[in-house]
This record gives sequence, structure tokens and C-alpha cells, in this order.
Amino acid sequence: MSVKSHNSSDDGPSRLVFVCDVDYLEHARELSARLGAPLRLIGEIAPEYLQNVDHVVVDADLRDMESIQMLKRALDRVPAIRERTYLVDGGNSERLLKVQANALGATRHMLRRFALAELQREYSFVGRRRSPRVTGSLRGAPGGVSIIKAEESLEALFEGLLGDSAMSLQGVSLAAAGVLASVSEVGAGQWLDTVRKHHEGTFQHCLLVTGVAAGYVRGARLSSAQAGALMNAALLHDIGKAAIPRQILDKPGKLTPEEFEAIKRHPGAGYEYLRKHGKVSPVIMDAVHHHHEALDGSGYPDGLKGEQIAPLTRILTVCDVFAALVEARAYKTARTPQQAVEVLIDMTLTSKVDYEPVRVLAASFGIELPANVGGLVKQVAGVKPLG
Ligand SMILES: [Fe+2]
Ligand SMILES: [Fe+2]
Repeated sequence: MSVKSHNSSDDGPSRLVFVCDVDYLEHARELSARLGAPLRLIGEIAPEYLQNVDHVVVDADLRDMESIQMLKRALDRVPAIRERTYLVDGGNSERLLKVQANALGATRHMLRRFALAELQREYSFVGRRRSPRVTGSLRGAPGGVSIIKAEESLEALFEGLLGDSAMSLQGVSLAAAGVLASVSEVGAGQWLDTVRKHHEGTFQHCLLVTGVAAGYVRGARLSSAQAGALMNAALLHDIGKAAIPRQILDKPGKLTPEEFEAIKRHPGAGYEYLRKHGKVSPVIMDAVHHHHEALDGSGYPDGLKGEQIAPLTRILTVCDVFAALVEARAYKTARTPQQAVEVLIDMTLTSKVDYEPVRVLAASFGIELPANVGGLVKQVAGVKPLG
């Protein structure tokens, strides 16, 4: 794996901030937004802005004496910032700009035109390899071999997206088919347990969605083409998260509006990547693009409503929500399938998701629900309160 994690330790995302001058405001704004990191103009840096910062990226004209003086004043006050990256343009003045950056305390330089890709790589979660010992224990666990294959496929996809390079649909299809076969053999509950014991964060989530989709496929009446499309879409659905910084994806608390805006870009990023490199079917592309839409129009990125959302996409949404609820994270306990189904029922009753996929999915986890929403409403109203 060529991608390294930015963090010197693996115990949490580091804090990245941007500073810029007016000349590079537009450029810096784009960069910081894509990385979900805050940005300040050099002349407007309050002392607290640079407190507890691990890495500052400077996007400024290093020939401008005024910018240089302000930068010196601001950064000299906080010697604790370990990493100071200065963006420079290539060409004739590159050497001179680097010398100037060094004089300002740069710990490294980055060519402006590669900065976004480089920083995205550093701040993504890709590249956290498990030890051979853990891989060995995963291989021997129920469903382990199919999980390893799916994980390898995901790694290749995330790398592909970050490097803007081609992907292998065949690899995805093989891995997804392997998950389906494995879930049929060991059962969805057992398969998900193995994932939860061996994976964390976004990898865990993508694998869980694939396992949940396999559970769904087993209980649903789908053609083999539909089943294959759902499985592939499940494995692919969040690949756009490769472009979102880890400190946002793994943030335990509430997201700021800017961070949420960054998160909201992942369906579009995944879709764009597949459109450009994937050669996947429009049904799968749509599922990747619209898995966060809601029937009442309250979802993102396009606020689609009801029938505007394709049937397979709506099924994937239900699998995605279920998987997110049963996820194990350091800062929250995983919900049981019963609790996840109860949340999905609430979402059905508030017109966010379809009832039928919820019913089918619940059945694959041994939870029997009434055949239609009418029966469900009766159940909620009186016979047996839920939640
Ligand atoms: Fe997503
Ligand atoms: Fe997801």
C-alpha cells in the first residue's frame, strides 16, 4: 500500500488548518472546503485559531512582503505546530519560493497543483493496514475469506478514486459474489459479527452494508441481475468517502455545518469516479449517487422524492441505514438488529424509506413484521408498541 496515514500515531485524526492571503483566497477556499478544514486570511488570524493545531498549510504569495510579515507574526507565536506546509508554484521561481518558505519555518513544500491530491491522500483513512496476526485471525473466522476479498476490493477502489485511475468492475463483482455466497453459508448475523470484530470506521461500514445487502438478497425475490447489481452497488456505495478527510469521517461528536457539507459530497464523488472510470451499469451508478435521498425529499445530494428515486437505490438506502445502526464504533455501542429495525420502522412511518425492503431485511434477521404498512400501523398503535 503506497498511501500513508498522516498521523504519527493511530489514535486519532490530527488537526489541520489553512491560512492564505487574498491572492490565493479562492484557491485556498476550494482546498480547505474539500478537506473539511478551517481557513483564515493571514491578517485575520486570532491567537486561538492556531491553538492545538498539528498541521498548518500556507497558501500565500511568498514574494509579497506584507504577507510574509503577517505570516511570521502569526506562526512564530505557536512553535508547537509540528507541520508547516507551504504551497508553491512550479517553474522558474520554484527554488526561490522554497527558500523563502524555509526561511518562514516550512517543514515541507508542496506544489500548488498537486496539493489537493496529496493532502487528500494524507488525510484519508486509506492505508491503515492490519497486522498479519489480525489478518490470520480474520481468515479463520466465519466468512473471513470473503471479507478479506471484499476488503481488498475496497482498498483498490479507494486507491483508484484518490489516484483518479481505473477500477476493475470484475474484481468488485467477484468480491460481492463471494460475500453473497459466504453470507448464505454462515448467515448474515455471523458474517456481520466477524466484520465488527476485525474492522473499524469506513471500511467496517462498507463491508457491513455489503453483508446486509447479501442478507436482503437471500430473503427477497430478485432476479440474479438485480441481486448482482445490489451487491455491487453495496460494495461501491461509499467509495466517494475516499475523498473525505479522516478527521471528519471518524469524528465522534456532532459535525459542524462545513463538515457536513464535506460529507455530503461523497455520493457525487463516487458517482463521478464511476462515470469516468468504472464502466458500471446506470442502475449501480444511480444507487451510488442517490443512496442518501429520502422519499419525502429531505435527503441529499439532489433532494429527490418518491418515484424519482430508483427502486434498487431505495433498497440500498435501507441496507445502508441498517448497517450504520448496527456498526460498532469506539464512541457508541452497536444497536441490535431488532433496534435497527425499529429505527427503520420509524423512518417508514415518517415517509423516509419504503416499508417492503425493511420487512424483507427484518425477516432475514429473524424479525417478522406484518405484510404491509397497514398492519404495521395497527401494531404500532396498540397491539405491541415498538421502541
Ligand atoms: Fe453514504
Ligand atoms: Fe453508507
